[in-house]
Amino acid sequence: MTARLSLAKFAKAGQLLPRTDIPGCRTTGAPKSEEKSVDKRNVLTREKAREVYDASGRKANDTVSPYGAPASEVLLRIGRFDEAEVILEYGHGTGTFARRLFERGILRPSVEYIGIDQSPVMMKLASESLQPYKQNVTLISTPNGDPLLGTRQLKSGSVDRYLSTYVFDLLSEDDIASALHESYRLLQPDGLLCVSGITYGNSLGSRLACAIWELVRSFNIEIVGGCRPQKLAPYLEKAGYRIKESYIVQGDRSGLLGFMNSEVLIAQKI
Ligand SMILES: C[S@@+](CC[C@H](N)C(=O)[O-])C[C@H]1O[C@@H](n2cnc3c(N)ncnc32)[C@H](O)[C@@H]1O
Repeated sequence: MTARLSLAKFAKAGQLLPRTDIPGCRTTGAPKSEEKSVDKRNVLTREKAREVYDASGRKANDTVSPYGAPASEVLLRIGRFDEAEVILEYGHGTGTFARRLFERGILRPSVEYIGIDQSPVMMKLASESLQPYKQNVTLISTPNGDPLLGTRQLKSGSVDRYLSTYVFDLLSEDDIASALHESYRLLQPDGLLCVSGITYGNSLGSRLACAIWELVRSFNIEIVGGCRPQKLAPYLEKAGYRIKESYIVQGDRSGLLGFMNSEVLIAQKI
């Protein structure tokens, strides 16, 4: 059973806690390969997604949301970011996750953080937020939101961590495949893919929250920023990854959004 994640336990600055026995998370182990049927749910076009995230700005900050905050703490803890020389974040949004990495002193002084986003407003917000660390930070705008274009100038195998939180859950099936294809090219052989996103319920409360989310989404996809509950493992496996760690993390239980579950996965190239 999933118990409430104790945020305080993970919030200690500069401290990476042991990676075993994470309270509040149900480990799902390394999920078995399963054939995934194509997701036919409606998605935002890239252009519409840019408009939506330009309009929402600071409000679209999953890293501090009732469902995203606990999952982000888990990812911060298990992503082994302290070992990385080059971290690439796809869809950095306001830059809050990256700022946490820097603020908590988790990163090496020489680390290079490369952020990618297609929203000019998010680029501006992240640039302001990461200003104190600007010597370590490069932000790249994705031309037309094409996951293959923003990073094509980067060398294959040049990245230690490919990080993406609450982005795959809004992309089209084709764009998820392209982003993962590009991540595979960019990651060095021992590098880690670190992803999170909203997922399906596994308790009465989380199933209900998920059903309401899907209902709202079917009426107005923009209200939920295009995001849909997913199981990410089959996408990662299809792209050639082996799942190393997998957690279902429940939200903070504050209000309806806090009953949404998130999935946190760490994967490596086979
Ligand atoms: C739901 S927000 C998540 C932001 C952040 N990762 C977080 O967890 O708070 C999705 C982000 O992905 C960006 N995004 C959406 N489609 C994209 C695309 N095709 N290429 C690059 N970024 C994209 C949006 O602009 C937005 O910043």
